[in-house]
Amino acid sequence: MMLQIPEVLTKVQVAECRAILDAGPWVDGNVTSGFQAARAKTNEQLPQESVEARQVGAIIVQALEANPLFVSAALPRTILSPMFNRYGEGMGFRDHVDNSIRRDPVTGQRLRTDLSCTLFLAEPEDYDGGELVVNDLYGDHVVKLGAGDAILYPSTSLHHVTPVTRGARVASFFWIQSLVRDDAKRGLLLDMDVAIQRLARKVSHDDEGVLSLTGVYHNLLRQWAEV
Ligand code: NI
Repeated sequence: MMLQIPEVLTKVQVAECRAILDAGPWVDGNVTSGFQAARAKTNEQLPQESVEARQVGAIIVQALEANPLFVSAALPRTILSPMFNRYGEGMGFRDHVDNSIRRDPVTGQRLRTDLSCTLFLAEPEDYDGGELVVNDLYGDHVVKLGAGDAILYPSTSLHHVTPVTRGARVASFFWIQSLVRDDAKRGLLLDMDVAIQRLARKVSHDDEGVLSLTGVYHNLLRQWAEV
């Protein structure tokens, strides 16, 4: 399942984050790559341990944890400390699959990458190219969102970033280990949660049907969650 999450950050927060990031110690992005990715990638990244990355990362994680759509869709167990990349003119990232296991250099924790997330930190009109293209069973999905919006997609997908031909694409990217490993099960839980919320708004939160569906949701989550 691919899902857009609008306005994870407000425009004011985006401006604050960009002011911090733009002054950061950007380096060649290949320092974080596995062998396969290193051959495919040209971009710049902020070192994960840098003050700037940690400061903006904390703002992003806080915003994600307060975002009901993100929480319902990702069912996050662990969110890897957000990383940051910048693609200037001529930079891009050819087709690759993200590493299955990653170690968070900030916390030392290892996680299984179930979901990949890109949070856009530049407005689409400020650069040409730089689209995220995710390939799944249904074909190629081209993603280029407004600053502050995020896209969530399964880490199993082949994906690439098209070369930037004007301006610079700045984004945060990170991985999530979900409480529910299976993408299809996670999708069913999201559909059910969304439907229950809709129904509850129409009738009431203590409607008997709503209560029993909420019970089913939690009992399914109890069956499927790995804590
Ligand atoms: Ni990737």
